[in-house]
Amino acid sequence: MADKSKLMKVGIVGYGHLGQYLVERIQREGPAAGLCLVFVWNRNTERLRGSVPQELILEQLRQFTERAADVIVEVCHPHIVKEFGAQFLSSAHFMVGSPTALADPQVDAQLRQAAAHHGKTLYVPSGALWGGQDIQRLNNSGALKALSIRMSKHPSCFRLSGDLLSDWTEGEGRRVLFKGSVADLCPLAPNNVNTMAAAAIAADSLGFAGVTGEIVSDTELSQFHVVEVEVTGASGFSVATVRRNPAQLGAVTGRATYGSFWNSLLCCEGHGGRVYLC
Ligand SMILES: NC(=O)c1ccc[n+]([C@@H]2O[C@H](COP(=O)([O-])OP(=O)(O)OC[C@H]3O[C@@H](n4cnc5c(N)ncnc54)[C@H](O)[C@@H]3O)[C@@H](O)[C@H]2O)c1
Repeated sequence: MADKSKLMKVGIVGYGHLGQYLVERIQREGPAAGLCLVFVWNRNTERLRGSVPQELILEQLRQFTERAADVIVEVCHPHIVKEFGAQFLSSAHFMVGSPTALADPQVDAQLRQAAAHHGKTLYVPSGALWGGQDIQRLNNSGALKALSIRMSKHPSCFRLSGDLLSDWTEGEGRRVLFKGSVADLCPLAPNNVNTMAAAAIAADSLGFAGVTGEIVSDTELSQFHVVEVEVTGASGFSVATVRRNPAQLGAVTGRATYGSFWNSLLCCEGHGGRVYLC
């Protein structure tokens, strides 16, 4: 049996698709992977009863410090990042599942300051982003000139605020819904463009306002989400990638993203008081 005192203690905030996936996987494989669960919180506690052991259910999120988690994982909503992110960082590393929250410059500054002040790491999971650490390296070398990301999905896979996509019909084909800065796009599609937010965080010399995001509805994409990234560096350097992520109709999150979150969690062992793409 694994020595419990050596395991990384994990708190999960949110029990939707990603939260359930992570909770089940930590319970199944945690000790072998060096992890143990110390709490699960969901805004509706009833949803946890029966599937999460009673002693792991955290009734009030503000009581999270009592569980002494080493890392807290948010997988619910940007609002919770805004309200609790800096508090989480005062006592634990924090993996932010909804990085669109950082499109708000105040939240971004608050979290970076809290990480630096408390020496805790703000982890940004790469999710469906391919090459995030390469983008970050190019950014840090001062050679990143431009970055654009296009995300194409079946219209049933988008959750948009406003009426950008209220009138689609099956078979209509491809439709560009938005093209502009990721800063402007995040509030319109907070649950769909976390990949772009992660890219904007990696490319912090450009920032959310300087990275271009495009979302495309395509009724032909009944089995995949497609993420295209174009990076431009100095002296004619460029990289373009296309990632196809198998996804069911109506799914906001592609299947490969679940495994990607797990791998990201395994990296959260502490990288100092800074932002770290994992
Ligand atoms: N970083 C990435 O690449 C990536 C990928 C997929 C999803 N996400 C984000 O992760 C989060 C969870 O995704 P999911 O697929 O599990 O979503 P989900 O809709 O299945 O679950 C969300 C959970 O959060 C709860 N919730 C919703 N709004 C809330 C609020 N205002 N306060 C507290 N709880 C609230 C819901 O009740 C639900 O339990 C979402 O914000 C999503 O946008 C990020």
